[in-house]
Amino acid sequence: MIDIHHHCLPNVDDGPREWDEAVAMCRMAADEGIDTIVATPHVLRGRWRSARRDELEARIATLREKVGASPRLLLGSEYFFGHDVAEVLREGTAIVPLAGSRYILIELASNSVPPLLDQPLYRMQLDGWIPILAHPERNIVFQSKSNLLASLIDLGMKTQITAGSFTGAFGPEARVAAEKWLRRGLVHIVATDAHNTTKRPPKMREALEVVRAVAGDDVADAVTRRNPGAVIENRPLAWEPEPSMERNGGFLKRMRALLGSRA
Ligand SMILES: [Fe+2]
Repeated sequence: MIDIHHHCLPNVDDGPREWDEAVAMCRMAADEGIDTIVATPHVLRGRWRSARRDELEARIATLREKVGASPRLLLGSEYFFGHDVAEVLREGTAIVPLAGSRYILIELASNSVPPLLDQPLYRMQLDGWIPILAHPERNIVFQSKSNLLASLIDLGMKTQITAGSFTGAFGPEARVAAEKWLRRGLVHIVATDAHNTTKRPPKMREALEVVRAVAGDDVADAVTRRNPGAVIENRPLAWEPEPSMERNGGFLKRMRALLGSRA
């Protein structure tokens, strides 16, 4: 499997403090069947505002030396959404695209969805970038307004669900959302979002079994191998289901009409 969201670089964010734990995370991931990890340190978020790209490059090179050839280690970042995302990408240093691709991993706060989120996400796509929204199933707004997520997918955004959400590690709401959205075609990629070897470990196998049980082997393979594989090879996703909408009386119709009228 390929893990495109993983905080394994030490001392750059809320991931591991020591090299030993960073190496242990990579070994644990390998034991889970993960052969490729994209390291995604937080950038432009709170106290991690200063993470420098050359420093991140140096750290992943050191981690590669310590870990060896397997799992393969690539560099990316997790960008905390700002409405100036397109401008920050044009400036070109702060956000590290996933494995040198055109895919950008973006997170939101877990308790809100910024107003007019669709506009910057659309603008960055005009410049050829593809947004992947990190763990929307852990966001309380998306949990109750899944058609809002579907409308963003309609506009070209992709989603990454955290493996632990399928096994209840982030509570019942995230678990229900993850499973429901998988059935409805709102899930493109599953990744660990690992932060350490204890509370947020790089576990994938148990989630893979849940995904298989809910959506079948082919979808499980798509969200853990083929789609993340397409990301790191900078290709269009291998599997893109048509999102189905929750029937709640015309919200999506209004949203689409609104977005359509702007385009
Ligand atoms: Fe993360």
